[in-house]
Amino acid sequence: MGERGAIRIESLTRSYGRVVALDAVDLEVRAGELMTLVGPSGSGKSTMLRLIAGLDRPERGRILVDGQDVSRVPPHRRSVAMVFQDYALYPHLTVLGNLLFGLRVRRVRRDEAERRARSAAERLGLADLLDRYPDQVSGGQRQRVALARALLREPAVYLLDEPLASLDAPLRFATRADLLALHRDLGSTTVHVTHDQAEAMTLGDRVAVLDRGRIRQLGPPQQVYDEPADTFVAGFLGSPPMNLVPGGGLLGGSPGLILGVRPEDLILDSDGPIEVSVDAVEALGSESILLTRATDGTRLTVRAAARCGVRPGDTARLRPDPARLHHFDAETGRRR
Ligand SMILES: Nc1ncnc2c1ncn2[C@@H]1O[C@H](COP(=O)(O)OP(=O)(O)OP(=O)(O)O)[C@@H](O)[C@H]1O
Ligand SMILES: [Mg+2]
Repeated sequence: MGERGAIRIESLTRSYGRVVALDAVDLEVRAGELMTLVGPSGSGKSTMLRLIAGLDRPERGRILVDGQDVSRVPPHRRSVAMVFQDYALYPHLTVLGNLLFGLRVRRVRRDEAERRARSAAERLGLADLLDRYPDQVSGGQRQRVALARALLREPAVYLLDEPLASLDAPLRFATRADLLALHRDLGSTTVHVTHDQAEAMTLGDRVAVLDRGRIRQLGPPQQVYDEPADTFVAGFLGSPPMNLVPGGGLLGGSPGLILGVRPEDLILDSDGPIEVSVDAVEALGSESILLTRATDGTRLTVRAAARCGVRPGDTARLRPDPARLHHFDAETGRRR
């Protein structure tokens, strides 16, 4: 297990009219690795998965799976299963029928196919829904049917396009854990697209941050979080996003720099050097997010304890953790 499914992407380019969806992307996904792909809407995430799956043609560049150039191999001959953003189930087949479909195409014997389909359904909590049609189950359930269907293909590579997006919070949390366990069991190479901060941080061995068709940073999630390569990544990974102060202003620094500090690295401290007025307090139960403004007008978001006692209209003082300041070049946005 884990030896199949190494993906190598070489200067992959795809545009639609004047939109460059992927711009000379190089990327390597190791055999057995779970990589998460994050980026704003329209940054090229689905395009990347479609190209790996063979559902779309690259304009330039190559895709190799286990060292073999698959760029011209049709989708059904690639050992790749994709779960789409919009699930794409067959509406005229029941849940069971949807699960069996791919197995029938591959001429798996009827009783064996049914055994495997039921076991995948069991695994994803769908056992009671097998006789229903896709429009008779919820969005989250449809998504799990799509996942189960992908599982049944036993591919070398899974491509998951926001497979948990329509689940509610508790189910999402549970399914995230299931997905991780599943990946550990199967050891299949997986590329997982997500918008969710927690998924980006917890799910993958590495995370790739995409922006306008380019990979801005690739690395273990904690490393990308701790040392974002540029202001885009700093602003994208983390919620609420990092405070970015041009020139550094009250954080110190100089005109050629942008200083960054994460909300959790601004500490409420009555002796702190920065005085702010509190515009709003978002009490989230487990913590409070303070939206504040310093005397020079700089807006700073602060992550504070749930019962920190600060109210809108209050004045407070902040101490930035000096070890956790980020320096970026004002011109290029790159980390310095
Ligand atoms: N078939 C198509 N025809 C024209 N433009 C397309 C097509 N597919 C994608 N695009 C454009 O390419 C860019 C990248 O699209 P893509 O679907 O890869 O984004 P995404 O990162 O998956 O976004 P989202 O998070 O919204 O799903 C977008 O600007 C999109 O409008
Ligand atoms: Mg998409």
